[in-house]
Amino acid sequence: MGNLSRASEALPEWAANLVVKWRRHLHQHPELSFQEHETAAFVEKTLRQWEGLEISRPTRTSVLAVLKGARPGKVLALRADMDALPITEENDIPFVSGNPGVMHACGHDGHTAMLLAAAGILAQHREELSGEIRFIFQHAEELPPGGAIELVNAGVVDGTDFVFGIHLASLLPVGQIGVRSGEMMASPDNFTITIKGYGGHAAMPHRTIDVIAVGAQLIGHIQHIVSRLTDPLEQLVVSVTQFTAGSSHNVIPDSAVLKGTIRSFKPAVREQAPETLKRMAEAVAGLYGAEVQFDYVKGYDPVVNDPELSGIIREIAAKVAGSEALVETPPAMGGEDFSAYQRKAPGVFINVGAGHAESGIVYPHHHPKFNFDEQALELGVRMFIGVAVRLLTP
Ligand code: NI
Repeated sequence: MGNLSRASEALPEWAANLVVKWRRHLHQHPELSFQEHETAAFVEKTLRQWEGLEISRPTRTSVLAVLKGARPGKVLALRADMDALPITEENDIPFVSGNPGVMHACGHDGHTAMLLAAAGILAQHREELSGEIRFIFQHAEELPPGGAIELVNAGVVDGTDFVFGIHLASLLPVGQIGVRSGEMMASPDNFTITIKGYGGHAAMPHRTIDVIAVGAQLIGHIQHIVSRLTDPLEQLVVSVTQFTAGSSHNVIPDSAVLKGTIRSFKPAVREQAPETLKRMAEAVAGLYGAEVQFDYVKGYDPVVNDPELSGIIREIAAKVAGSEALVETPPAMGGEDFSAYQRKAPGVFINVGAGHAESGIVYPHHHPKFNFDEQALELGVRMFIGVAVRLLTP
């Protein structure tokens, strides 16, 4: 395994150069979720230069490349997401977004570039591998229902033994790798509560059913879902993020809309929270003679890393980056559709540090000044290769 194993210690020079070049190209040409046409074409074209990859387009803007090793063995899926966000970039860099209002503000340009480099290197060492690697270039991570579920439904992870994915993390210093066993990211579900009352003159509230007063009461009660009605040892967030009503100083409106998000890890908590919220909304509205309509849309499933595979990934990270580089990723209430793959096969999602305070790379993901230290790209590629070497060589 000499050659390939060495690539996980230091990338071949061509790959170290191209991964940065590709990232900058992608950064300059960001595309929104489900609209990644040029991105997918670029990925496909780049993949076609290497022999041994079976390339297909499972959906219009996603790309799958399959590499079969020289001997039969396990099946490993490696995933990168490719979509950008509706944000106007505020960075002053030579490869700033050329698509106004659209920006790679989450590092998916880096993910795509890293997986391209890994595919190229692994394709060149096909004879050293057993089994099969599926390189999944996924569309639409940022927009529910998400691209992952479409790819799962298209069968791209049928029969896989392992799934592995990387997210670059600007708030983790470059050089570090964050791994977590078990619950890592939450299920981001959304609710909309429409309160229907009876509008009228602001000077005669007694002749109205004031939906603003009802909504304000309800928001107070909602705080008790977490603090009084949920086991304190469970993780749950209920946030009202939008409260829309009214049009004037002297008119009590006849409807109001509350929107928000419920985030959790455990299925039981995830089921119970919206039921409690609906019951509460109906009860509070009922006190004042108002009515409510309750709409709930489930987001991605929580990302839960397989404990056994997490242990193996930790060992690989320690070998690739040094044991001092390894940190424990804390759980976070954000969402990620990588979870869709984890329902089909044991999977692990990790963070590769990409922040660098001394260079001003300190902005969080989805910020108009988000950026990452490109040195992280090399480490990410080496992780992909390290995982393939460990899982697919005897
Ligand atoms: Ni992301």
